[in-house]
Amino acid sequence: MNQNPTLECIPGKVITLSTQLEKPSPFYFGYDIEESFISELEKYTFDKIFFFTEPHLFALYGKDLYLKICEKFPCALEFVPTGESCKYFPVLEEVCEKLITKGASKKSILLSFGGGTVGNIVGLVAGLIYRGIRFLEIPTSMTGQTDSTLSNKQAVNGKTGKNHFGVYHAPIFIWVDTKYLKTDPPSSRRSGIIEGIKNGFISDAAFLDYLEETLNPDVKFSDEQLYHLAYKIILSKLEILKKDPSEKGYGIILEYGHTFGHGIEWLEKGKLSHGESVSFGMKIAAELCKQLGFISQKDVERHYYLIEDKLGFNNPLPRSITAETLLDAMIADNKKTGRELRYVLLEKIGQCYNPEGDYLVTVEPKLVKKVLENFIQHQTQLLTA
Ligand SMILES: NC(=O)c1ccc[n+]([C@@H]2O[C@H](COP(=O)([O-])OP(=O)(O)OC[C@H]3O[C@@H](n4cnc5c(N)ncnc54)[C@H](O)[C@@H]3O)[C@@H](O)[C@H]2O)c1
Repeated sequence: MNQNPTLECIPGKVITLSTQLEKPSPFYFGYDIEESFISELEKYTFDKIFFFTEPHLFALYGKDLYLKICEKFPCALEFVPTGESCKYFPVLEEVCEKLITKGASKKSILLSFGGGTVGNIVGLVAGLIYRGIRFLEIPTSMTGQTDSTLSNKQAVNGKTGKNHFGVYHAPIFIWVDTKYLKTDPPSSRRSGIIEGIKNGFISDAAFLDYLEETLNPDVKFSDEQLYHLAYKIILSKLEILKKDPSEKGYGIILEYGHTFGHGIEWLEKGKLSHGESVSFGMKIAAELCKQLGFISQKDVERHYYLIEDKLGFNNPLPRSITAETLLDAMIADNKKTGRELRYVLLEKIGQCYNPEGDYLVTVEPKLVKKVLENFIQHQTQLLTA
């Protein structure tokens, strides 16, 4: 039956319908909020929960929560390898097959308890099994709480680059308890905070003032300070996502420093974290913006000050990285865009350059190479000093 009497079948006429599929996931935030978690879970109907975590996180916090869930619901425990090593195809295949063998059904819910890597692998598994089942995230690291869970991007790494294989799959909800940040290691804390610094540079100069007052190079904070810091970094990203949840238009500015950062991360094969790699990427991007005449030497120095003096990401770039190897790695990583290398650039502090409505900008390769050579030469001097 025709639901719409005015609908005419006119050959060649294209009409647009909306799938209405975009749906934000509830994001719960607090300190020491485990008690409320079970009542949130009770709102959902499911046959079983599969609780994924890393062994040391299970010992630290996961066990208490897991036992609480077991008191009320059928729940199985699954471990994944620690850190980035879980984001590869063999782990993905093993986890998927194991879940089927252990009776996961379309009615099951996967739960990820851990940093961004556990969230990514579990999110991808949930997106693939039976063409997509539900999952929820309990991020425990600064990056997990303030960055990775806000994107719905689930991926594993390929042979030539980071996050080459994945899906967009949204969790049914995200449960952020900043209590867990107490034991997040300093390097992991810095990795989350660097993205907050980035958010200040690209969209909110006032946020940089707050970070300058709040940060310390040892990243030592009270529970209350961690709570406020995480909250403000989350808001700094949400402000950007509000304008472009797809991260493909305006939201692409979140990639500031990442073209260089991804190349560095890939070359270092796990020896440098995503955050530390991006910290180098942001310094190089700032140098490039200065060479293009967009920002001043003082603005570049503010990058160094915040990243090195205030956040404590102050190791020099590893000696093995050269301008040539880095450019090759960036080109390999960039395969996904099918275009030449492009960069997010700052027009001024708190604002990105946007010629003709595109925040990803092509830069003369010779200039990029010169900026890289100068940066690497300076880093080598630091290593030999
Ligand atoms: N989807 C996205 O949009 C997005 C955004 C940012 C990052 N990511 C991905 O996230 C990953 C990085 O996330 P990450 O920095 O959380 O890395 P991670 O998951 O490797 O965690 C960092 C380290 O901290 C430990 N850890 C986590 N929470 C802890 C706690 N409370 N106490 C003690 N130790 C704890 C982990 O065991 C690990 O050793 C990368 O793979 C990156 O690609 C994805």
